[in-house]
Parts: sequence; structure tokens; C-alpha cells
Amino acid sequence: MVFATDGHLRRLPKVELHCHLEGSTRATTIRDLALKNGVELPVDDPEELYQFTNLNQFLDIYTIICRSLVSADDYRRITYEALEDAAAAGVRYREMFFSPGFTIQFGVPVSRIWEGIRAGLLEARQDLSIQARMILDFDKPSGPAHAVEMAEFAGSEPDRDLLIGMGADSVERGIDHAAFAPAYEVAGRYGLRRTMHAGEDGPADNIRIAIDDCGCERIDHGFRLLDDRDLTARVVERRIPVTVCPTSNVVIANVVPDVANHPFGAMRAAGVLAGLNSDDPGMMRFDLADEYPTVAEAFGYTLEQMEQISLDGIESSWAPDDEKQAMRASFAVEFDALRTEYGLPLRA
Ligand code: HPA
Ligand code: ZN
Repeated sequence: MVFATDGHLRRLPKVELHCHLEGSTRATTIRDLALKNGVELPVDDPEELYQFTNLNQFLDIYTIICRSLVSADDYRRITYEALEDAAAAGVRYREMFFSPGFTIQFGVPVSRIWEGIRAGLLEARQDLSIQARMILDFDKPSGPAHAVEMAEFAGSEPDRDLLIGMGADSVERGIDHAAFAPAYEVAGRYGLRRTMHAGEDGPADNIRIAIDDCGCERIDHGFRLLDDRDLTARVVERRIPVTVCPTSNVVIANVVPDVANHPFGAMRAAGVLAGLNSDDPGMMRFDLADEYPTVAEAFGYTLEQMEQISLDGIESSWAPDDEKQAMRASFAVEFDALRTEYGLPLRA
């Protein structure tokens, strides 16, 4: 059995499928944009904002941060910077959420938001060693009509290589998740891939509704999945990916005291295609490079197991098949180059 050092795990090539654009924003950029847009922040240093003890409090702070995002260029900048930071964390491929519900409430039209994100994405594709695509998340508390409107908007983007899917975030408690089935039907008709935050601080039944009623092909968080044995068996059998964010569940949703007690280890042992993700690396000041060694230590994972988690991210992604094949090959080369550098035997 081969174990890797923290430094080695931080440098593994990685895939990230559960990460929010707005929550990836650097505190320094929020400060710049708030100043530029005349938005008053309740603190002098935005880093001070990044403190929360539950999902609702986190979302309140998320809203404060989002007030600073006004122009298309603001969105271009945060998109580019988020991908710059991801590339530095060893992320080679990312599918990133953006959540227009947080800023359209302040009068920023979704078309302007997307114009900026699109520009940032294209710029990043030119400059950075990371491939990225976007998923539009609707805001659950804004209701089913907002969800349909967002599905229609996402469907209207002609370049399906840039905007590939629809998801849903924000709170779970008190929300009728089945009411979003029509919005997911619209998304499906446009050829958008479908995912949903479910079972984060809500019950496993929300995961079942996401899959059975809304046609979701992937589940975000899925923290409560193992509560339902039959559902778990189906998720395993159908290889429905679950984009798990262990540290986020400790520090944002506060549903588990530490990563060692997170069900991620039990999910993997049960055969769930569960991956590792950071969720909101800017606001958490904790990215995927931090998450890999944290999880390896918490569960005593070998290097092989960590490499497999990375490869499972490729399977779980919505990249085209030829791109997945190319990624598998390049990851294998990188895995072995790192093993050589750290004086470890090559992979079997
Ligand atoms: N859950 C719900 N809503 C969110 C999250 C999350 O993890 N991150 C950003 N918005
Ligand atoms: Zn999330």
C-alpha cells in the first residue's frame, strides 16, 4: 500500500463538479467591486464576512456578496479569477454553477450575467490550463416559475459547450422539490443536463424526488443518501454521480462535526460514485487542493484510492466522451510523473 504526502495529493490532477462561481470570488475582488459599484459592505474587510455557522446564515452572506456583482465585466472578472484559482489548485476540468437568483433580485438581468460569464469562460479557455463549462442553478425559494424562466434562459444559449446544464441550490427546508419537475422537463427538452442540490441539510427523500420526479442525472451533496437503503442501491446500480463536499458540510451546512465523521467514506465503500468538491472555495478559504489531503487523512486512503477518486470525477463529468478519454490518458501520465518525483512505485 502506498500513501502520499499532502504536497503530492495537492498536486494530483483533479476534476471539480460542484463549485459555485459567486462563492469562489476572492475577498479582495469583492472589495474592489463593492467600491467600484458604490455598494456598502457591512465590514471593512470582506474576509470578515466569510464566517457562518449554518446554511441559512451562509446564504445571507452570499447575498451580501452578490450585491457587489453588477456589470457584465464584474462577472467576466470573477469567472476568470475563479478558474485561475482552480487551475492553481490542480483542477484540470471544472463544471461550475452560477446562480442568477441572487443578483436578479437586485435588478441585474440574467442576460447580462451570462454575457460576462461567457466572456470570462472564453478568456480562461485561451489562457489557462483548465477546461470549464457552466451550469445554471435556479434559486429554490424563488419558486417553480423562476425555475422555468431560468430553464428557458439556459435553453436559449445556442452554444451547448459553454452552458451545459441546469441545477438548483439554496435552502431545502420548507421547499416542495417535486414542484420543480416542470422546469427540469423544459431543461431536458433543450438538451441541458440536470442536477440538483439535494439531501444537504434536507432529507434523503429530496434526493429521490430529484432523480424520480425531476429526472436528475447527478446529485449535489447527497449527504443524507445512505439514510435510504433502496435509494442508495439504485444510485449505485445506475452509477448516478454524487458531488460530495465534505468540508463544506462541516463548515457551511454544519451537518457533521468533522470530515472523519462524514458519510463520504461509507458512500465510497457502498459503491456510490461519490466525488470530492469544494463547493465555495473563496468563501470557505479552502479549495480542492486542501480537500484532497484532508479526506485522505480522515479516511486513511491510499494514493491509489485518491487517484481513483480523481478518475471517478472524469466519469461523473458531462464532458464529451473523446475529452473524457483524453483526460484519462493525461491524468495517468501525470499520476506516474508525480509518483516518480516523490520516489514512489508506478501504478499497477
Ligand atoms: N448549498 C445551497 N446553496 C448554495 C450552496 C450550497 O452548498 N453554495 C452556494 N449556494
Ligand atoms: Zn453547492
